[in-house]
Amino acid sequence: MLANDEEYIYLDTQSDSLIPDYIRDSKLVKLIIVITLCVFVYIMIIILPNLAPEGVQIPDIKMVKSSNTYLHPIIPEKFKGKQPDPEDPVEVIPNFKSLEYASTSLSSTVKKHLNKLSQYEEKHGGNLDSKRRAKRMILIGDVHGSLKQLKKLLTRVEYDNGKDDHVILLGDFTNKGPDSIEVINYAIEHNLDCILGNHELAMMKRYSQFHGVKPPTFINHETNVNSTLKMKEAYDLDELMKLAKKITPEHINFLSKCSPIKKLGPVPHYTNGKQNKHAKYQADGVAVHAGLVWSKGIHHQDIEEVTTMRNLLPPNWEIPTDDRKDKVGGVKSVAWTKIWNEKQREIYEKDVDSLKDTDLTLGTKIFYGHDAKRGVVTKEFSNGLDSGCVYGKQLTAVIIWAQLSEVKGQEIVVYKQMQVDVNC
Ligand SMILES: *[C@@H]1O[C@H](CO)[C@@H](O)[C@H](O)[C@H]1NC(C)=O
Repeated sequence: MLANDEEYIYLDTQSDSLIPDYIRDSKLVKLIIVITLCVFVYIMIIILPNLAPEGVQIPDIKMVKSSNTYLHPIIPEKFKGKQPDPEDPVEVIPNFKSLEYASTSLSSTVKKHLNKLSQYEEKHGGNLDSKRRAKRMILIGDVHGSLKQLKKLLTRVEYDNGKDDHVILLGDFTNKGPDSIEVINYAIEHNLDCILGNHELAMMKRYSQFHGVKPPTFINHETNVNSTLKMKEAYDLDELMKLAKKITPEHINFLSKCSPIKKLGPVPHYTNGKQNKHAKYQADGVAVHAGLVWSKGIHHQDIEEVTTMRNLLPPNWEIPTDDRKDKVGGVKSVAWTKIWNEKQREIYEKDVDSLKDTDLTLGTKIFYGHDAKRGVVTKEFSNGLDSGCVYGKQLTAVIIWAQLSEVKGQEIVVYKQMQVDVNC
């Protein structure tokens, strides 16, 4: 054995010395290549994903905001004969760019209306003079990173880059689709306004964990109750985490200006372009991603609930759930909009006779997204706009405007809306 070993060593030494230099060199080359590969893989897997943009503190977010625009009545003469109707093909979208704002010197009706609007603003803690006047408010359902379709929709409605138009994305404009970061960049560059959805919140949670900054905090100026998002300790390396790592301080600045709830001012009842018995009184418009709980005031809503709810649980219909199939004691939950519309209807019936000449609105109408399965749902006091673009269905907008009109020979200002869809 020993002899053999010695012999082996001897032979080995022998053979080693027999290896020509170029082979020994190539062994070294191989070793260098392997080491280089290891370092490269290490960089790709461990270091690169962590090379994220600089992390900033997420500024506090206002839970409820007022829209910074108001709808100034426009003169409809130029599109007379082609009154917008949601049933009409899309070619009839009136060219709002060429329409004029109704001037107060032209019409006492407009003057009276603006007075009412001013009082309405004061009652709601706002100031009409500090707002930008707009011809149209355009609300858009869940984009989910579908930049191509968002551009198509904005082209279809002839969006004017924010000059006389005010566009609000109703939350969940990121994740699932191909171009989340690009949608945020586009929104920044083209003056789009936004509501926060559950996907944006989940992304900001991951952002704050990844960068070690405090989680998003929601400020409520009315109630002085601020809330912070509940954080899990660790997150998976999912799509949202990948997005969270790419988010720049500019994106955070944009997202933190989106409130979860936005007051829109007066909006029409129903969606048809025709005159109806509600034409005289508008509803208070509110934009939110998922919904509101009817039994809590607008300033007392919960951040997790308003971004996730779909149904309400029996027996009191005050506890929301995101699961449409939830039951309590064998009793099925119902869509939150069902209860919301019943309650707003009650308010309407109760108050309609006691309305004063100065009253402008009656009831609250919610524009929301979040429920692609139910899709576009049009009710008197609610309007769901998630038509499932990221599932290959449609992307939907609602255009809202105010115009001079005639009801029974009397000139009034009415609020109207129409729906525009593009295929995805
Ligand atoms: C909520 O935040 C506001 C603004 O930062 C602050 O003024 C207020 O004191 C906070 N309220 C509570 C209860 O912490």
